[in-house]
Amino acid sequence: MNTQQLEIRNKQLASWNTFSPGWAKWDNFTMRFLETQAEQIISHLDLRTDDHVLDIATGTGEPGLTIASLVNKGTVTAVDLSDGMLQIAREKATILELNNFRAIQADACELPFEDGAYDAISCRLGFMFFPDMELAARELLRVLKPGGKIVTTVWQGPVDNPWVTIVMRAIKKYLEVPAAAPGSPGIFRCAQPGVLTDLFASLDCSEIREIEIAGKMACSSVDEYWNFMNDVVPPVVSALKVVDPEIRNKIRQEVQHLLGTDSNVNQKIPFGARLITIKKPA
Ligand SMILES: C[S@@+](CC[C@H](N)C(=O)[O-])C[C@H]1O[C@@H](n2cnc3c(N)ncnc32)[C@H](O)[C@@H]1O
Repeated sequence: MNTQQLEIRNKQLASWNTFSPGWAKWDNFTMRFLETQAEQIISHLDLRTDDHVLDIATGTGEPGLTIASLVNKGTVTAVDLSDGMLQIAREKATILELNNFRAIQADACELPFEDGAYDAISCRLGFMFFPDMELAARELLRVLKPGGKIVTTVWQGPVDNPWVTIVMRAIKKYLEVPAAAPGSPGIFRCAQPGVLTDLFASLDCSEIREIEIAGKMACSSVDEYWNFMNDVVPPVVSALKVVDPEIRNKIRQEVQHLLGTDSNVNQKIPFGARLITIKKPA
């Protein structure tokens, strides 16, 4: 990897280690929010009970932990850059008594595994953070058996994801938020249709399918939404970390206004993701 890619990796590592306590605190909420994507990934993987599966960018363990409960004669190796996130995944595996689940710290661009070691690969919401997406795609294909499948999800664009754009709009009303450099890591890096399809097609994969998944983030109150976004979502945390209490309060009020409610009633806020299924040529 070149200096710029190493810099991205180091920034991502520091950032996800900083956010891991927030992810631990909100784990149940986050896993409910992202459950549809886990279900779709698992259903498209066509797993057998003795499969050896790699879950890339596993974070606090999903969808790897659910897969481990299904491949009960096989194994799941869960990989993430952040030791803070992996510690949470390991604790969950212990509570769930999943002895076929192991968590390993590594970069998706440099996997410490033999060629063709895995039957299938899952990756929920990881690709957009990798230092070099092509290097990562090549590594995933290298460690996958011929004929094996990779199934991954990434976010669609801002229009389909009010769960994050609502708070970002409120922030931008009061604060300057520097625009991300095009192609740099971030939640909307793979938002355009075809980004991952084209990447894997350029690596000689021909059986590739891309579908859209829509769902809702269910919040019991505006406060729950606000607190979750403040603890878990990187661009929101970064923007609000140095803001004074008066401005923070105005942003919180703007969020409530944009959610279209005066009261702390249930909220269902839409999200849109892309699911990409790639089959490695046999
Ligand atoms: C949005 S979280 C997704 C976590 C989990 N898959 C889920 O859906 O709940 C993104 C994860 O990607 C991990 N990550 C970022 N860059 C990575 C890299 N180069 N290699 C492996 N994991 C990486 C982060 O540490 C973080 O845990």
